Amino acid sequence: MNEPTVLALNSRTREVLAMGREAWEMIGRTPGYIVAERPLREGAITDFDVTARMLRLLLDRVGVSRFNRPRVLVCVPSAITAVERRAVEEATRKAGASMVRMIEQPLAAAVGAGLAIDEPVGNMVVDVGGGTTETAVFALGGIVSSCALRVGGFDMDAALQAYGREAYGTALGERTAEEIKMAIGSGHPSFDGVSVRVRGRDLMSGMPKAIVLSSAEVREAIAEQVDSIVSATVTCLGQAAPDLAQDIMYEGIHLVGGGALLRGMAMRIAEETGVRVKPVEAPLECVVLGAGKCLQFFDSMEHLFLASGR
Ligand SMILES: Nc1ncnc2c1ncn2[C@@H]1O[C@H](COP(=O)(O)OP(=O)(O)OP(=O)(O)O)[C@@H](O)[C@H]1O
Ligand SMILES: [Mg+2]
Repeated sequence: MNEPTVLALNSRTREVLAMGREAWEMIGRTPGYIVAERPLREGAITDFDVTARMLRLLLDRVGVSRFNRPRVLVCVPSAITAVERRAVEEATRKAGASMVRMIEQPLAAAVGAGLAIDEPVGNMVVDVGGGTTETAVFALGGIVSSCALRVGGFDMDAALQAYGREAYGTALGERTAEEIKMAIGSGHPSFDGVSVRVRGRDLMSGMPKAIVLSSAEVREAIAEQVDSIVSATVTCLGQAAPDLAQDIMYEGIHLVGGGALLRGMAMRIAEETGVRVKPVEAPLECVVLGAGKCLQFFDSMEHLFLASGR
């Protein structure tokens, strides 16, 4: 299953009304007492109870009952702190797991993309998600160098909302901002030349208002986020040992995550690193596919997991 990390709650009773896509559809159009909550921000748990409840709902949805206490492998940002790690572990246990293991997202992505990570050859993954971006170079089953940024697609959406307010005095919804980004957003001027008409709310009058945004404007509005993602990739590659960098020149950079689908992202990374970017078969799913493979071959993959947070 593939769902956005969001819950709709009744703010009076804290009852969960909807999860995932269904809750996301509710954002921005709920009556006052229904609130949409994202229990994770920038890759970290911000609301422990809501996270545990969401994990429980996820387990229910995939048919795991409260009684068979599953083993759970959670993919986490590689920049996770010890405190955050404990929070992930506790929340997962509270949701009914008998055993919790964690794996760094870029490593899971590399497994999911079928890269030969156990070989003495350098490989590089850049994972641009919603709240985080992770770039990592692997060899011999481990991360050799990595750069993690707490910047991702959500920050681009927020930057677009800020642009709407500043340039047009118009409040754009979170979902509208994401739709604009996906429709005409890009990280490279070669994608300029289109525009989109969107609805927002006039900040002065409070009335509905339509504005037209061009792709060049959108590109400018999200440039700061895109630039920082591209420069983290350059930095990470620069930290790799010369022989590994040589391997990566040959193997290419593997770009994954939803943010990788932004137009021109691959082109910018290729231009600024001088290394070609190789398409991955399932850029949005390779983290979870990699985690699945790790569970399937648990014993031979265990060396990839993070040591327990306790
Ligand atoms: N076609 C697209 N163009 C641009 N951005 C996209 C596209 N499709 C998805 N995204 C963005 O990708 C982000 C989600 O990516 P992904 O599913 O990889 O994140 P995640 O793994 O849930 O988050 P994280 O890795 O930060 O924990 C969202 O911000 C979404 O707007
Ligand atoms: Mg991710």
